[in-house]
Amino acid sequence: MSASNPVNPALSNTQSRDMASLLHPFTNLVTLRQTGPLVLERGKGIFVYDGNGKDYLEAMGGLWCTALGWGEEELIDAAVEQMRKLPFAHVFGGKSHEPAIALAEKLKEMSPFPVGKVFFANSGSEANDSQIKLMWYASNARGQKARKKIIARDRAYHGVTLASASLTGLDAFHKSFDLPFNFTVRAQAAHYYRFGLPGESEQDYSARLAAELDQTIQREGPDTIAAMFVEAVMGAGGAMVPPKGYFQAITPVLDKYGITLVDDEVICGFGRTGNAFGCQTYNYQPDSMTIAKALSSAYLPISAVLLSPELVEIIEEEAVRIGGLWHAFTYSAHPVSAAVAVKTLEIYERRDTFGHVRKVAPHFQARLKALKDHPLVGDANGVGLIGAIEMVADKKTKRNFDAAKGLGIKCSQFCQQEGIIVRALINDRIALCPPLVIREAEIDELFERFTRGLDRTLDWAKAEQMV
Ligand SMILES: Cc1ncc(COP(=O)(O)O)c(C=O)c1O
Repeated sequence: MSASNPVNPALSNTQSRDMASLLHPFTNLVTLRQTGPLVLERGKGIFVYDGNGKDYLEAMGGLWCTALGWGEEELIDAAVEQMRKLPFAHVFGGKSHEPAIALAEKLKEMSPFPVGKVFFANSGSEANDSQIKLMWYASNARGQKARKKIIARDRAYHGVTLASASLTGLDAFHKSFDLPFNFTVRAQAAHYYRFGLPGESEQDYSARLAAELDQTIQREGPDTIAAMFVEAVMGAGGAMVPPKGYFQAITPVLDKYGITLVDDEVICGFGRTGNAFGCQTYNYQPDSMTIAKALSSAYLPISAVLLSPELVEIIEEEAVRIGGLWHAFTYSAHPVSAAVAVKTLEIYERRDTFGHVRKVAPHFQARLKALKDHPLVGDANGVGLIGAIEMVADKKTKRNFDAAKGLGIKCSQFCQQEGIIVRALINDRIALCPPLVIREAEIDELFERFTRGLDRTLDWAKAEQMV
């Protein structure tokens, strides 16, 4: 690759050093050798800045995570204070520390479903891997040793570790990694715009998905399935809101077969959809929940698994029977991350951050949906402070552009030049997920910059004779 596509000699010294030393994920490595990476230097509020002082409105909140924006001094102070007091301690072998206990207590109090205990990890993927292991552990504890399969949906995103990537329903995450593992059972994605049938109402579409889920479970054998993972709003698979009545249609199917519902709230958790958790916005009750990202406003890595009292009881019984729960990470419940998370949750409450989301979300959603008038935009939908547009070649038939043209990536590059960071997802969908602290005037600024990026994308598509 290096011979046929040399690194652009015009890149800055920092960019060249990066190109020589960093393995870049989630990136077109061919284009990167020409453009070089965007090297960020600092951030304040909803803006980040490069080395030349150019500002970028961070319309993705980093990776759907920096809920309180950049430069939140209270979080910095909480980290420094804890660093001084006890920079490391673990929870192995009967040890504990105050930040871990306080955080677990607070999460139990906040949780929308009864939680027995909390297990900590460091990333969404690790927490979901832990979920899978704990579901298998619980099946064994119940004497249901055949219940090991896990249902996850097409276009789901549950992480990149071996097991969580197996649940992720996007081909790109499996290719050349020899994944997915065969414990995964695939269910349909839930996206009315793309997969609803002509003349079918959202409710009917939800009922059809539930019936298909039932058939899938029957085909696989209900007694072989441990759990189903869901995201309230499917994030990396397209930032797609569920159709009306979706969770009300599928949860009785899971209940009928005794299948545990694992709610992956890594993106939706902590206010993103206008309530503390996505399952509250969509009114369903999980048995277990994965949280990460906004748990610490992403200032430090931390994630958690919240388990129902019934799951905790069975897991602890099994741990007693076999001599211990042999699963945790060195950095599980890291005291500095936990202290920052405790402070983050305190700030959400004190400043009524989720109430703020409910206040500004109608304006965000109205401006998002107005983009349907743009010549490139077929779908524009969302909830709270998350949403996406889908660019299509034909609005009537919803035909997508040829994927090889990379229109979505092109759009994100034009947006970056216009001073806004967005994320291109599958099918030329562009996601928006700004920090929760964004104000109404900043939402206007976001959509003005985004529209300029879209207009430039349209000009490019015309020049390429794609439209
Ligand atoms: C819903 C969901 N689950 C899990 C993950 C994986 O989290 P991490 O990247 O922290 O491993 C993500 C990451 O974006 C996510 O969006």
